[in-house]
Amino acid sequence: MDITRFPRRHYTCGITPIEKLERFSQALGVAGLTVYIKRDDQLGLTGHGNKTRKLEFLVADALTQGADTLITCGGVQSNHCRLTLAAAVKEGLHCRLVLVESTAGAYRPDGGGNVLLYHLLGVEKIITVPWGTDLPEALKQAATEASAEGRKPYVIPLGGSNPLGVLGYIACAEEIVAHHLNIHHIVLPVGSAGTLAGLLLGLRGHGRSIPVTGMSVLNPRDRAEATAMSLVQATAAFLGIETPVSGNDVVCLDDYLGEGYTLPTDGMIEAVRLLARTEGILLDPTYTGKAMAGLIDLARQGHFKKGQNVLFLHTGGTPGLYARPEIFSRRKAGSSHPPAHS
Ligand SMILES: Cc1ncc(COP(=O)(O)O)c(C=O)c1O
Repeated sequence: MDITRFPRRHYTCGITPIEKLERFSQALGVAGLTVYIKRDDQLGLTGHGNKTRKLEFLVADALTQGADTLITCGGVQSNHCRLTLAAAVKEGLHCRLVLVESTAGAYRPDGGGNVLLYHLLGVEKIITVPWGTDLPEALKQAATEASAEGRKPYVIPLGGSNPLGVLGYIACAEEIVAHHLNIHHIVLPVGSAGTLAGLLLGLRGHGRSIPVTGMSVLNPRDRAEATAMSLVQATAAFLGIETPVSGNDVVCLDDYLGEGYTLPTDGMIEAVRLLARTEGILLDPTYTGKAMAGLIDLARQGHFKKGQNVLFLHTGGTPGLYARPEIFSRRKAGSSHPPAHS
């Protein structure tokens, strides 16, 4: 699978590390199970995270087309919007954001986390729309407005999840394959599903049958799996290849989503605390915290076998921790203290 023919910007120095989580694995208490972590929370651009990989291809395309303004959308605390804006800053482009409010007034210009970063990075314009808005239509409207002002807009869809963006996670799969670690299972969060689609295409395209479990943090299982599969198919068509991914390969559990997107769960809080207190690595409350809660639960249920290595894909998002610190200060620590080192 050759993705080198596509124009690409490079926003990360080298490749992201894979680290063994010794103390975290020990704290899980599942004999013989070792958890590793792929540190995509160390990708380049402000605040880091998975969207950096997608943007390397998307922004290269925008530049090829002579665009001067990037336009994209996301939730109020959107990592994707923050990273698109950061890429725009780096390339000397303008950036406008369409933010979806889950409740009226959810976006406040003096908000913390990613909202603080939108303003520090100098966002040109923020347009808020209510939950349920037709986002492709809202993006089209923002682009029409920009064109009327004499701009050359380039629209990036929700989560950067189109075939060009998916190439970023084919590149990530290639890094994992090149590492030669004996991995028995991969776990990651799933939102707009481009990360999962690219990872599966890259792994299967290189003949690796490692099971991949996506933890859906946005949609019910059926919808998440259908979205991932249609992105796999669209990307394979874009690359001009037969899809190497079968329907059975696409697994998106929704058991750890809780009451909805961005709404905290006890499992997420335990997972964020446990990784912080065993390894000093931060997760985020919306994506990686819930995905790690899923990994912990599957491990405790005996889903992984003795002697297996499970790789967790850390997709970033940590600015989200600083948006609502009360989530972590209000709740009890529970069982999340790791055992003292013997
Ligand atoms: C930190 C983080 N992890 C995971 C995801 C999900 O990635 P995808 O939308 O490709 O499924 C996102 C999406 O915004 C994210 O910000």
